Amino acid sequence: MLSGKRLLLIVSGGIAAYKTPDLVRRLRGQGAEVRVVMTAAAEQFVTPLSLASVSGQRVYQALFSLTDEAEMGHIELSRAADLVIVAPASADLLAKLANGLADDLASTLLLATDKEVLAAPAMNVRMWEHPATQENLARLKRRGLLIVGPDEGEMACGEYGPGRMAEPDAIVAAVAEHFNMPRPLSGLSALVTSGPTHEPIDPVRYIANRSSGRQGHAIAHALAHQGAAVTLVTGPVQLPDPAGVKTVHVESAREMLQACQAELPVDIAVCAAAVSDWRASEEATQKIKKDGSSLPALQLSENPDILAQLSKAGAQRPRLVIGFAAETRDVAAQAAAKRDRKGCDWILANDVSAESGTFGGPDNSIILIDGQGREDWPRTSKEGVAERLAVRIAQALEGKPEEESRMPEPIQDGQQK
Ligand code: C5P
Repeated sequence: MLSGKRLLLIVSGGIAAYKTPDLVRRLRGQGAEVRVVMTAAAEQFVTPLSLASVSGQRVYQALFSLTDEAEMGHIELSRAADLVIVAPASADLLAKLANGLADDLASTLLLATDKEVLAAPAMNVRMWEHPATQENLARLKRRGLLIVGPDEGEMACGEYGPGRMAEPDAIVAAVAEHFNMPRPLSGLSALVTSGPTHEPIDPVRYIANRSSGRQGHAIAHALAHQGAAVTLVTGPVQLPDPAGVKTVHVESAREMLQACQAELPVDIAVCAAAVSDWRASEEATQKIKKDGSSLPALQLSENPDILAQLSKAGAQRPRLVIGFAAETRDVAAQAAAKRDRKGCDWILANDVSAESGTFGGPDNSIILIDGQGREDWPRTSKEGVAERLAVRIAQALEGKPEEESRMPEPIQDGQQK
C-alpha cells in the first residue's frame, strides 16, 4: 500500500505516455497522492486534461509560469514529494539528467530534487542500445537512479527488442517495493567522509591527491538506501551530491575534522576520505613567485587524523567506526596494524598499487578486518562494495545493545575467519 505517499510523476515524450493515466489510476488506487508534470513532447501522446482528471490535480507543464510559481515554486514541487517517478523516461530526458541540463520544467525538477528518482525508460531498441544511452544510464545508476524495465517485446515502431516501458503494474510494484523494503538502518545516523582534501600553499596552489570520492559517495548513498540518516563530508570532487544524503563540502583536512565533529553524536562513522597527511605549515597570503635563484622550501605540518579522533573512547564515540587502508603491499598486515593504531572497529583494506587500477577507477577489492579475522570480498564495483558494506553494518548493529556492537580484538595477518 502507498497510503499517504506523495509521488511526483514526470511524463516525457514517448508513445508509452498513453499508459500513464492507467499508471496514475493504479498509484492512486494504492492510496498515493500523485502530482503530474509533463514535457512538451509528452503532450503529443497524452493530454494534460486526461492526466489532470485521473490525478485529481492540475498538471504542471511550463517552467516559467507565474501562476505556478505563486502556487508552488518548481523547486518546491520536487521536494514536496516522497519519490519522483519518470515514466516514460525518454532517451532525451535521461541524457539531460545525466548531463545536468535543465531547460524545461521536467529536467529542472530532476536536477533540483533531493529525493530518490525511479525511472521507467521507454524508447526504440536502437536508441536503448546506443552507447550514449547506456553510458548515461551507467552514470545515472552510479548516482543512485532507480530503474524499472524496460521490457523486451514488439515496439510501436515495428521493431523487436528491449525498450518497451515496464507495464504500469510493474511500475507500481517497484514503487511499493521502494517504500516497503526493509531498511535495517532506519533510526540510525551515519557520518561518511569522502574525496581528497586540498591543503593550500598559497592562493593558487595546493597539495592534493588522486582520490575521486567515488567509494565514499557510494557508501553514503548505500547507507541512506538502507534507511540511515546520512551526512557526507566531502573534499573537492567531480561528483554530484548523492540523493537523500545531507552533503557538506569542505576543502582542507582541518575543515573536514570540524565538519565531522559538528555532526556528532552519530551511530556509524565511515572514513573513506583520502585525507592529506600533511599541510603547508604556513599558507602564503600572496602567490609565491619564482625569483630565478633559490627554490622555495615547503615546510609541512601534520594534519589531524579524523579517523583516529572519531575512534577515541568517549560519550560521543560512534558505535561503529570504520576506516579504509589504501596500501600497495602487505595489504592485510598493514591494515590490521592501522586498525590498532587508529582505534577503529573495522578497516577496509584495498590494494591501490598502480597495477590494481583502484585509485580513481570504477572497481575495488576489499579485505575487511575486524577484531576477529578477515573477510576477502571479490573484486566488484565501488557501488557493489558500498552495498555490501551497508548490509554488513546493518548485520553488525542489528539488535545489539551499544556495548556489544563494539568490535573485539585485532587479528594476525593471514588468519582466516
Ligand atoms: O593513515 P592512512 O591515511 O593510511 O589511514 C587511512 C584511513 O584513515 C582512512 O580511513 C582515512 O579516511 C583516514 N584518515 C583520516 N584522517 C587523516 C588520515 C587518514 O581520517 N588525517
